Amino acid sequence: MLKGRSLVEPEDFSLSEMEFLFSLAENIENDRKYLRECLKGRLLATLFFEPSTRTRLSFEAAMLRLGGNCLGFAEPGSSSAAKGESLADTIRMAASYADAIVMRNPKEGAALLASRYSDVPVINAGDGGHHHPTQTLTDLLTIKRLLGKIHNLTVGFCGDLKFGRTVHSLAKALSRYPRIKMIFISPAELVLPDYIKSILVKQNVEFEQREDLEGSMAELDVLYMTRVQRERFFNEDDYIRLKDTYVLNGEKLSLAKEKMIVLHPLPRVNEISVGIDSDPRAAYFKQAKYGMYVRMALLASILGAVEGE
Ligand code: NCD
Repeated sequence: MLKGRSLVEPEDFSLSEMEFLFSLAENIENDRKYLRECLKGRLLATLFFEPSTRTRLSFEAAMLRLGGNCLGFAEPGSSSAAKGESLADTIRMAASYADAIVMRNPKEGAALLASRYSDVPVINAGDGGHHHPTQTLTDLLTIKRLLGKIHNLTVGFCGDLKFGRTVHSLAKALSRYPRIKMIFISPAELVLPDYIKSILVKQNVEFEQREDLEGSMAELDVLYMTRVQRERFFNEDDYIRLKDTYVLNGEKLSLAKEKMIVLHPLPRVNEISVGIDSDPRAAYFKQAKYGMYVRMALLASILGAVEGE
């Protein structure tokens, strides 16, 4: 039962619960009228203490398309956090006004804390460099829809693997699927955190860490590019030195399999050249669209508008 549940980390849902959301998302995509109005009279609070375009807009679009409404803020400066209100108090308030809360916060662990103070479901839309489970649902749905399966795949992650929360969540989630090999491509200073690596070791996942993108291209079924997370750096000089380490362009893409897909949670900065946007392997804009469908499926489920799982 997904009704009433919070989503803080990708493992909060079982594989069959995620599968249920993916098929619901597919039904929604195929039939625009499906589930329309099912959240009429329901309210979603979107509390964004950090910038966002896709995540916030796709949640709002999802809620509005299901007949519900949204309230909230897009920057902490316009909320009472600016007056020093604690997160616990802000959450208690939002939970008394709305039927569910979507929150993005720069602090790791903020979503877990919020879920403890809220008596309505809390969805983590990113907590610092930690997790971003609805981006993971988006990424998994995209892989499933475009490659037809989530097993027996070689997935490359490239860029800022240290601070990139979407990488942490997706690697953890993929470790639950069979025969996924992961290749982590980053500069030495931006390698995957040890706590994620130990999860992969525990789950017996085959993985490698490398610095070379070009030499890895031909092996990959999925390439997950990420931006260097400027806002999490302590020092601007380090950011400037590392930001353009990897740029995916036509030359590099020509080394890839014909059926490989390039994903990116977006926003991109320089790491994917716009020249490859029209290549059939560039799937990042489709991915953003799947994000709205899977968020519709998630909201309809946790708010109890659909039966099942
Ligand atoms: C990501 C995030 O916020 O972690 N963006 C998103 O939600 N699509 C990736 C990023 O900001 O680099």
